Amino acid sequence: MRIIEVKDYQQMSNRAAEFIIEKVVQNPSIKLGLATGGTPIGTYKSLIEDHKMNGTSYQKVTTFNLDEYMGLSGDNKNSYRYFMNNQLFNYIDMNKAKSNIPSGIAADFQEECDRYEDLIAKHGGVDLQILGIGSNGHIGFNEPGTSFDSKTHIVKLAPSTIQANARFFNRIEEVPTKAITMGIATIMKSKEILLLVSGEKKKEALFRLLNGEINESFPASVLKNHPCVTIIADKAAIADIKVHYSEKVPM
Ligand code: PGA
Repeated sequence: MRIIEVKDYQQMSNRAAEFIIEKVVQNPSIKLGLATGGTPIGTYKSLIEDHKMNGTSYQKVTTFNLDEYMGLSGDNKNSYRYFMNNQLFNYIDMNKAKSNIPSGIAADFQEECDRYEDLIAKHGGVDLQILGIGSNGHIGFNEPGTSFDSKTHIVKLAPSTIQANARFFNRIEEVPTKAITMGIATIMKSKEILLLVSGEKKKEALFRLLNGEINESFPASVLKNHPCVTIIADKAAIADIKVHYSEKVPM
């Protein structure tokens, strides 16, 4: 794993956007795996700024989001479809027909999981997957204990995840308890992974990822088995973890 240490959230966002833009310019038909949550919002802002200033085009890009809450339609402001439209897609020249997110209101959720997994495969897989990490080590909504062999599947959210995500809802009772998520095997099939980690709240998770064992009780640890992972982490998240930095952005 290559680790890029940056000063703060803003610098992480700028560096992540630079990383993504470079790949999009190299391959305008890239298949991007996207994430939601607080972590990538700044990255998406930087992508929008760059699109406006430099005209980087996303017309040919196909995207696959990691997950969606079960029970929320795309026009519900807490759905991840709504999030993606409003944090990114509405402000770049993205062809929304090429943006894929599992449906939160499918008639048959198991069928929806299979459809999504097949769709990714039919497109030849994800070229670059953007990931955040939960403080319990989850990636996507793959909570501790999820099999490393899992494909896109239905999950029951961990109480700590419901608690962490309640900040986006009016009341914690409104947070859905289930979701559809790409599985760990789905994520691991991506050709390249960019993991973003910011803030003191993620310090322990990053420490465990870098120093702990590879184990299903800490889903993100599987990333150590992937041949091409870059982590961009800020000072608050890295704290005093001793790592061999391959790049340190000047502060
Ligand atoms: P966050 O969530 O970006 O809102 O911290 C990350 C995650 O849970 O994967």
